[in-house]
Amino acid sequence: MLDVYGLTKTFGSGSNKLQVLKGVDMRIETGEMVALMGPSGSGKSTLLNIIGGLLAGDGGSITLGGKTYGQKNPSNVVDIRREYVGWIFQDFHLLENLTAMDNVAMALELAGMSAKEAESAAREALAKVGLEDRMNHIPDQLSGGQQQRVAIARAIAGNRPFLLADEPTGNLDIASGKEVLQLFKDLCHDEENPISILMVTHDPDLASNADRMLLLNDGKTEASDIRSAWGLDDEDGGEEE
Ligand SMILES: Nc1ncnc2c1ncn2[C@@H]1O[C@H](COP(=O)(O)OP(=O)(O)OP(=O)(O)O)[C@@H](O)[C@H]1O
Ligand SMILES: [Mg+2]
Repeated sequence: MLDVYGLTKTFGSGSNKLQVLKGVDMRIETGEMVALMGPSGSGKSTLLNIIGGLLAGDGGSITLGGKTYGQKNPSNVVDIRREYVGWIFQDFHLLENLTAMDNVAMALELAGMSAKEAESAAREALAKVGLEDRMNHIPDQLSGGQQQRVAIARAIAGNRPFLLADEPTGNLDIASGKEVLQLFKDLCHDEENPISILMVTHDPDLASNADRMLLLNDGKTEASDIRSAWGLDDEDGGEEE
C-alpha cells in the first residue's frame, strides 16, 4: 500500500538549519494498523504531512496507490489528498454548527460528489463507526469519543484506503481512546474492505495494541518491540483482552 524510501526533510537554512528526517524507510501493507512513536520534535507530524501530500520532502520518494511523490510540490499531489488519504486529528476538526451527517457529507461534496451520493456515503460511513443513531446531532451534543468517530467516518467516507492519524486519542479519556483504537483495528482488519492506518501516539499502552510499532529516532524509523521496551509484558500480562 505505502512505501517510503530514503525520505529526507530539512527546515531552515544557515545556522537555523535542522534536518528532521534523515532517510526514512518504511512500508505499510493493506490491512495494517501501525503506531508511530518518538520524542516530541522528532518529526512525526512532518513525516505524516509529507505522506499526506501537504508538504514536500527534499530527498527520497513515496509510493501510495500507484502514485509516486515525496518531493513534489503539494499542488501536484492533489489526487493523493483527494482520493487516497484521510486525516484524523487530536482535536477532531469538526464544524460545530453542522450535524454529524453534514460534517461527513460536506467533505464528500467538496471532493466533487453530488449531494445525494454524499448523503448516502456519509450514512454508510457513520454506520460503520457505530453512529447510526447520532447522525443528526451536532458536535456539542456528542461525547469526545463520538466526535472523534464522526471525524473517522469523514476520513473513511469515499473509500479512502489510507488513514493518517496524528495523536487521535490525545484529547480523549482512556476508555474512549481504547474504543477509537479498537475501531481503527476493526477498519484495518475488515475482510471485505481493509484499509491501512498510520497513527502517531504518545501512549505506549495504545501503541502496543497496534499490529506493529515504529519508532522515529534521530531522523529514521526503526521497528520497535514496544511491549518489551516499556516493560508492559511484566505489568499488564493477563489483563489485556
Ligand atoms: N514549517 C516548519 N519550519 C521550521 N521548522 C519546523 C517546521 N515544521 C516543523 N519544524 C521543526 O521540525 C521538528 C519536528 O517537528 P514535528 O512537528 O514533525 O515533530 P513531532 O514529532 O510531531 O513533535 P510532537 O510530538 O511535539 O508533535 C521540530 O523541531 C519543529 O520545530
Ligand atoms: Mg506532532
